[in-house]
Amino acid sequence: MAGIRMTVGMSSSIVDRYTAMLMIPKGGGWMGADRRPKIDFGLLKRAISKKLTGSIKYRSRAGYDAQRYWSERFNKYGSSLRGAGHEGLSEEANEKMYLEAAGVFQGVVGPILGHLTEPRVLEIGCGTGFYTSLFNQLGLDNYTGVDITNVLFDRHRRRFPRYRFLQADITKHPIDGSYDLAIMIDVIEHIVTRDALEAAFANLRAALAPGGYLIVGPQFDQSRRHLFYVHFWSVEDVKTAYAEWDEVERKAFRNGILLVFQKPKDVDPPPRIA
Ligand SMILES: C[S@@+](CC[C@H](N)C(=O)[O-])C[C@H]1O[C@@H](n2cnc3c(N)ncnc32)[C@H](O)[C@@H]1O
Repeated sequence: MAGIRMTVGMSSSIVDRYTAMLMIPKGGGWMGADRRPKIDFGLLKRAISKKLTGSIKYRSRAGYDAQRYWSERFNKYGSSLRGAGHEGLSEEANEKMYLEAAGVFQGVVGPILGHLTEPRVLEIGCGTGFYTSLFNQLGLDNYTGVDITNVLFDRHRRRFPRYRFLQADITKHPIDGSYDLAIMIDVIEHIVTRDALEAAFANLRAALAPGGYLIVGPQFDQSRRHLFYVHFWSVEDVKTAYAEWDEVERKAFRNGILLVFQKPKDVDPPPRIA
């Protein structure tokens, strides 16, 4: 990309790749007052880590070491929305993005909670507690938040004393209890192998009571690996896993699709006697 000084000690092709990836606009927006190009080194470092060094640092047989990755991320950002949200965006931009998501989510979850009596809610990947807080505001009594890292659990327990928080990897551990509603928002794309995805779905299926609901997303048109810790799964991948369940709703959510399923009320019908 023309105009970038090579004093940063990188070849022009690497600079081209990352400035393009960071979507630094050509001819504006990144020029300093002295008309010399500004480079956001924080952004550049994050881009290099996501594209190159992260895949080496967090490499594991399951695709990446999710517990280490998310623990380090929450240790770095604390309860800032950037920890679970978009690291490359400001806190304000993350707040805006989360508020839009919350609007869609509330439209989906409201009617479900409305016709359940004393609902028991399970959240997989509760992160910074954004959806925990929504449930708290809605007056929900029975909530269990699960996450692969417990870094933020002390804060959550102080903030939401009536709620339960459990550390578990949904791709490895069955979840204790039985629930009327399970949500897994912005977690599925961080399960990066098909085996792990199937294991997570089996654990979710087992955690839901007959007639219980699952809200999961976002899903996309096509399944594809994106970064070492991101795999976009397709609507079809998820539909196939829940073929026996009713799809009760699908909604545009963030940049993909949110799916809502209901587990059959009669899971194992008794054999028919002729
Ligand atoms: C992108 S954040 C989303 C957090 C929250 N759901 C939200 O939307 O703000 C992904 C969350 O999933 C958790 N996570 C990732 N893989 C997990 C796994 N295998 N089992 C349980 N939690 C997981 C991470 O620790 C993190 O809190």
